This record gives sequence, C-alpha cells and structure tokens, in this order.
Amino acid sequence: MTSSSSSTLDRVRPLLRARQVREFTEEAVDPAALEAITEVARWSGSSRNTQPWRFIVIREPATIRRLNEAGLPQTRSLRTATAAIAIVLPADPTGTASLTYDDGRAAERMLIAASMLDLGAGIAWIREDVRAAASQILGLPDDRLVRTVMALGHPTEAARQPKSAPGQARLSRSELIFEERWPGD
Ligand SMILES: Cc1cc2nc3c(=O)[nH]c(=O)nc-3n(C[C@H](O)[C@H](O)[C@H](O)COP(=O)(O)O)c2cc1C
Repeated sequence: MTSSSSSTLDRVRPLLRARQVREFTEEAVDPAALEAITEVARWSGSSRNTQPWRFIVIREPATIRRLNEAGLPQTRSLRTATAAIAIVLPADPTGTASLTYDDGRAAERMLIAASMLDLGAGIAWIREDVRAAASQILGLPDDRLVRTVMALGHPTEAARQPKSAPGQARLSRSELIFEERWPGD
C-alpha cells in the first residue's frame, strides 16, 4: 500500500476499529456519552427520511438483565452491559426490508460512535420468538417491535483483545472486492 493510501486509510481508522464488544466492566456509561450516541442515532439516515425508529435508553440494570435472559444466546452482551439502547420500529409487515435496513443503519452508527468514545457496543438481536417478551419488558404498544438492542459499556481487557488471529477476522480483499464485474471468464 502506498504511503498516501495508508494515510487515507488512517482517516477512516475509527471505522476499521469498530468491533463488537460483549463483555463490560462495572463502570457506568457517562450520561454525556449516552446523549452523544443517541444524537448519532437521531441523525442516522432512513428510507425517504421517514425516521421510523424510536430509541429507548435503558440504564436500569434489572431491565437490561431481563432482556439478556429473554433472548439468549443472541442477547449475551446484555449480561454485563451497563446501558443499552433499544431500537423500536413500527410492526409493519409490508415494510420489513426497508425497516430492517434502517434498523441496521442506526445500530452500526451507534456502534461506531461508542467505539469513538472508547466505549464498547454489541448488537443483541431479538429473535422473532423473543419479541413479545422484549415488548412486554419495554412496555411497547402492539404496533411496535424491537429487533435490535445495542449493549453498551466499558469493554473489559479481555473484550479489547483481538478475537481472531491476525488476518482472520475478515475475508481478504481479493475474496470480497471485485473490479467492474463479477469475477470469472
Ligand atoms: C444483523 C446482525 C445481527 C447480529 N446479531 C447479533 C446477536 O444477536 N448477538 C451478538 O452477540 N452479535 C450479533 N451480531 C454481531 C455479529 O456477530 C458481528 O458483527 C460479527 O461477529 C463481527 O464481529 P466483529 O466486528 O467484532 O469482528 C449481529 C450482527 C448483525 C449485522
């Protein structure tokens, strides 16, 4: 890689560094950080700028643990999270693809924001069979659902360590990125 392309890469380094964190220390998340992360969520893009989501900031440990227990193993990051943000969406079966896309856009932005603030975040996916329990825990009306809860907190030392051997965490560029056309003859 040339030195000019490596300095370009350095500018996007915060995105390369944003990884899932699933184990957190007991240290609370600063309220200013939660405000900044929710501000990032509020500014996420969405289909036709409909802003379909609402975000529930959860600081009550008992609520976070109930969500953890309801949705294991996907919700395991909520076992030690000291805060969480639930992304609440309209329960509209006709708009599932678009709403799920918007859900992911907000989730990933929050994950990156947390990482930039030297916090950790993890996606806790609420399976379809867990949605009723999650709705009840969060007091959602019938026309809303939650598919993603972002677990937040200060990463433990172990959680900061690489999860894979060098070069193993992602497919190589040659496997993932093609020029102009699908590869082949
Ligand atoms: C749609 C989607 C659902 C996910 N669901 C979960 C989940 O339920 N629980 C979990 O711990 N991680 C979940 N993840 C996180 C992935 O496991 C994670 O992005 C992947 O392992 C890469 O992790 P890394 O960025 O730390 O390498 C989900 C990610 C996506 C995009």
